[in-house]
Amino acid sequence: MRVAHFTDIHVRRPLRLAEIPGKRLLGAANLAYSGRGAGFSDRVVEALARAVLDLSPDVVVCTGDLTALATRAEFEAAWTLLSPIFERFPFVLVPGNHDAYTSSAARKRPIERTFGAFTGGGAYPAVHRFGYLSFVGVDSARFHPIFASGRIPGPVLSRLGDVLREDDAPCQVLLVHHPLLRASGEPATRRTRDLVNRADLLSVLASADRLGLILHGHEHRGYRGVLSLDGRTVPVVNPGSGGLERVPEHRRTAHVCVYTLAEEGLIDVERHAFDGQAFVPEPGGAFASGW
Ligand SMILES: [Fe+2]
Repeated sequence: MRVAHFTDIHVRRPLRLAEIPGKRLLGAANLAYSGRGAGFSDRVVEALARAVLDLSPDVVVCTGDLTALATRAEFEAAWTLLSPIFERFPFVLVPGNHDAYTSSAARKRPIERTFGAFTGGGAYPAVHRFGYLSFVGVDSARFHPIFASGRIPGPVLSRLGDVLREDDAPCQVLLVHHPLLRASGEPATRRTRDLVNRADLLSVLASADRLGLILHGHEHRGYRGVLSLDGRTVPVVNPGSGGLERVPEHRRTAHVCVYTLAEEGLIDVERHAFDGQAFVPEPGGAFASGW
């Protein structure tokens, strides 16, 4: 089966007055002054949707950060931009930290209200079965007043062990927004940005012997690695942001990956890069560009 994967499109819409207080003010200022916000655009996401239609995968997955500041307007805009994809293909989604950006968004979970049909309705871990593949989504998004780190709630981790054992798919794919590895291959253990209970997740995964692939996002520059788990290795892939405009001087653009998976696991990785107009196969092969 062929699985398309994109992440971190960070759809933005202007804030209404009532939405401004608190972390959103900090976030909006940060996006404006750091120039990070300026890099994301609807036209790239529209091109991404066209690319996914052309690639015609069996399933499409997204590892979160649909929005920048988790407002209702951003979720509605993301819905409109992504509708060509989920109207045509099975679609599976997990939240990112920006989808639970404020304490109120973390409590009210607007992502579940808008996209609940694709997350599994807000109950995690969520198992989405397609033929010989099971996608197991976990929610690592939580509110933190300053940090972008994530945490998988303890009860979700305990259920994850049972779910991975009881699910009988020959090949399981874990979807989680936060990375387990850094681009260098080192463990992702920064307190400010990474999964604070990474070690607990790894001990649950150690006994998951049909886990064939781990997909994540969060870092906007893509990379792939290999996670060692109790004598086995599992490939880990982050395509990089799917919503960034192309800026050659910063060696930056949007990407989408397509994986070919058999019952035994991952066979092939393709990566397509936004060339300013459309997504084209990455020159030199997946991740060859270093962008
Ligand atoms: Fe993120």
